[in-house]
Amino acid sequence: MDFSDLSQQRYSVRAYKLDPVEDEKLQRVLEAARLAPTAANRQPFQLIVIQTAGRQAELKRVYHREWFSQAPLVIGVCALPVAAWVRRDGKNYADVDATIAMDHLILAATDLGLGTCWVAAFDPVAAREVLQLPDGIEPIAFTPLGYPADQPKRKERKPLAELVRYEHW
Ligand SMILES: Cc1cc2nc3c(=O)[nH]c(=O)nc-3n(C[C@H](O)[C@H](O)[C@H](O)COP(=O)(O)O)c2cc1C
Repeated sequence: MDFSDLSQQRYSVRAYKLDPVEDEKLQRVLEAARLAPTAANRQPFQLIVIQTAGRQAELKRVYHREWFSQAPLVIGVCALPVAAWVRRDGKNYADVDATIAMDHLILAATDLGLGTCWVAAFDPVAAREVLQLPDGIEPIAFTPLGYPADQPKRKERKPLAELVRYEHW
């Protein structure tokens, strides 16, 4: 798929089939995340691959929507601020790096016909408990990973004129 089609076709999938995700596809989406750029190439993130079978009750504590654990897999991305590049004024780029990695993963998934949905409205305390995250590892976002069982809606977006400013053109 070319990139314009890919960015058009990705949407937030909120219903999933039970079909398993082939291991080869899983490895390809993880590889896309591995290749993502990070500030100073520090790669201060970790991906957690969770098989949802039998863990629905726990995952419901992390994020309450039914569709979250409907897919066979959920992937979480965590930031490791101590490992990240820090700008001179103190701005730590761990969250940005983790987010770029997740976006690579999500776009690769779309390219392979898989559905995803960014989830940031999870319960961070429950996420830490369920995934047994040590201190210093911060959960940033989750996505289910599986085959879509819904249809894309029309994309609602602001016009470019509201989003872009051409300075000194
Ligand atoms: C950082 C981020 C966090 C999000 N968190 C949630 C979430 O917690 N729950 C949810 O249902 N959708 C979540 N979304 C999905 C957005 O609502 C969705 O991307 C947006 O409405 C545009 O729709 P589209 O993804 O179908 O193009 C999130 C998206 C992003 C980028």
